Amino acid sequence: MTCFYYNNCNHKDCEQDFCQKKFKLDFLYEKSLLSDHQRKRIELKLDSDKSDLEVFKFLSHIEQNIERFVNEGRNLFIHSPNCGNGKTSWSVRLMQAYFNQIWHKTPMQCRALFISVPRFLLAIKENITNKSEYLEKVIQSVRVADLVIWDDIAAKTGTEYEINNLLSLIDSRLSLGKSNIFTSNLNGAEISRALGDRLASRICNMSVDVPFVGADKRVFADFSSNQ
Ligand SMILES: Nc1ncnc2c1ncn2[C@@H]1O[C@H](COP(=O)(O)OP(=O)(O)OP(=O)(O)O)[C@@H](O)[C@H]1O
Ligand SMILES: [Mg+2]
Repeated sequence: MTCFYYNNCNHKDCEQDFCQKKFKLDFLYEKSLLSDHQRKRIELKLDSDKSDLEVFKFLSHIEQNIERFVNEGRNLFIHSPNCGNGKTSWSVRLMQAYFNQIWHKTPMQCRALFISVPRFLLAIKENITNKSEYLEKVIQSVRVADLVIWDDIAAKTGTEYEINNLLSLIDSRLSLGKSNIFTSNLNGAEISRALGDRLASRICNMSVDVPFVGADKRVFADFSSNQ
């Protein structure tokens, strides 16, 4: 049976007892906290009116050069008021491309991390009464990972304490010159209103702005496989 990683090895080692590439990719994905579902490459299509053509071209260019993008500590802010139009999918695709470019030379350590911001804020709250395993994993890797995806920086705000925790982690990564991808349904002004100027200024002013305008492409099959 062939593995589900997209790659240019033509799955020639899938029938062998051991595949070095699969072993390394499994490790990198495990550390990244991406779900199994998110490890699979999905085809990302344009709407019939080609509304996001320019951002797709721009992101495809970054995908081809992702190792350089990460090494230079660059950041992206992918946002749209519309749900389900590929913000998370594109950020995951860039992480997949990064793993495909580095797997053969990476030491066994966390290289990229996917943080669901709502889940992270909830974990901070829960951790006060019950030790959160998710929070522990995030804290362990967030400063060392070369690339962090901060997914779904949302209107649903946290307490000052929770937001300050988020701010301090983002701030320390930016100070260290480490690469980040932020996704949100809010634009910069809305993030500023919802989460404060300090967070908004870090996210917006340090990142390339990538606005999506396309339509929702989420289908029921996606939703059920994410549960
Ligand atoms: N360009 C696209 N081509 C094909 N399918 C897509 C595209 N964009 C999104 N989808 C489908 O919609 C699903 C949801 O996409 P995704 O999670 O990337 O949306 P999102 O913009 O992050 O949404 P939200 O604003 O709710 O966080 C994907 O799993 C995928 O199946
Ligand atoms: Mg999303």
